[in-house]
Amino acid sequence: MALVPENPDDEGDLKRALGPWHLISLGIGCIIGAGIFVLTGHAAAGYAGPGVVYSFAIAGLGCLFAGLCYSEYASMIPVAGSAYTYTYATLGRFLAWIIGWNLVLEYLAAASTVAVGWSGYFNNFLESSLGISIPATLTSAPIALTGFHAITATGAWFNLPAMALIGLVTYVLIVGVKTSANFNNAMVIIKLTIVLVVIFACFAYVVPANHAPFVPPNQGEVGQFGWTGVFRATGVIFFAYIGFDAVSVAAQEAKNPQRDIPLGMLGSLLICTALYMAMSYVVTGIAHYSTLNVAHPVSAAVEALPGTAWLAPFVNVGAVVGLSSVVLVLLLAQSRVFYAMSKDGLIPPAFSSIHQKFRTPYKGNIVTGAFAALLAGLLPLNILGELVSIGTLAAFTIVCIGVMVLRVRAPNARRPFRTPFVWFTAPAGVFMCVFMMAFLPGDTWLRLLGWTVIGLAIYFLYSAKHAHPPRYSIKNLPAE
Ligand code: ALA
Repeated sequence: MALVPENPDDEGDLKRALGPWHLISLGIGCIIGAGIFVLTGHAAAGYAGPGVVYSFAIAGLGCLFAGLCYSEYASMIPVAGSAYTYTYATLGRFLAWIIGWNLVLEYLAAASTVAVGWSGYFNNFLESSLGISIPATLTSAPIALTGFHAITATGAWFNLPAMALIGLVTYVLIVGVKTSANFNNAMVIIKLTIVLVVIFACFAYVVPANHAPFVPPNQGEVGQFGWTGVFRATGVIFFAYIGFDAVSVAAQEAKNPQRDIPLGMLGSLLICTALYMAMSYVVTGIAHYSTLNVAHPVSAAVEALPGTAWLAPFVNVGAVVGLSSVVLVLLLAQSRVFYAMSKDGLIPPAFSSIHQKFRTPYKGNIVTGAFAALLAGLLPLNILGELVSIGTLAAFTIVCIGVMVLRVRAPNARRPFRTPFVWFTAPAGVFMCVFMMAFLPGDTWLRLLGWTVIGLAIYFLYSAKHAHPPRYSIKNLPAE
């Protein structure tokens, strides 16, 4: 099975071969990454303390509602470009652009974020296992976010390993990689094993004092610990769930989409929510949350106690292997969104030109890789991660609204998957997404505003002038 078709023109030929377990595995493969291995530590240290366990429960619930809406959308128009394409067909070009532009944040900037997370574990692995250290000026971004608003210079130049990983993954994507079920299954087994071993091995070492109080008192500012901190952390660690939408992208490959897509999505979300809550519980239990604001928080936590230190090399290897596969899938998904936008004329035709020999959208891959490498090299993980979360939440909000609009405007269109209790689920999805966005720091909102302004400038200066009529429209959706 192709995770996402390697050649975007292959989509018509996908076989209906996936059952519920394949889909659950697909979801877990895309979900578990820098979110749990890195951002949990940052969210605990900066916003929520051990209360980050509750943040995972709340974010998981929000994803559930959004995911059920996403599945209906995806099953109606199962083609490349995910939510962007569905929105163009149903809500028009302008909103499609907004969602496409936010999906760039979801996929491209998330790939950079995960690459930065990968770099932290890779460096720790090199140092602790092989005794090799890369100079500090080449392993982190030149700026850091200290406290809540202050951006300071770190003295570093750029994050070389993160950039190198993006370069390597881009090369693999251009020459073509069969992101097959076997590859994905191997990744899932490695990641699940590491996460489960950490949870079980560390459970007995949890120090009750590290969990007291479980929700540290607020320190005077909204989002700085206390329950508002738990809510703010929810928006931050939402990143850890990104990727579950990949299950809906496989709607056309599912044997029985009506039954298996929700099973795949809910199954992978439930499993990941349970793992995330348990992992954040033990990590904040074996090390005090204030010590977790480092590049490799899980291995730092296990290293803190003699009884768990033996786990550190396994954690490092698991993170290095597991995170690189997430970068691959995210960059692959990004090139599909650009491909679809380019086919519609919203971005230049280069993004949909296919390499003669490799049959991959190589120009799009190169541009995507260059931008992703730049972001990964120059920005710190927390700025990137929060920007990704807010952009994705904005896209999911539009998806939840879009599903309701379609129920009214195209009530008879064929829906291989119907969102259950849509008039409850979709508004609940909107509420949860907006809630998570609302608690993200004001600075992140400003960055989203900046991103939107750049997007609007491109839209009015280029896209609106070059756009073709939509390839799919509400009028030609197949009827029931
Ligand atoms: N959910 C993915 C991660 O945590 C993007 O890395």
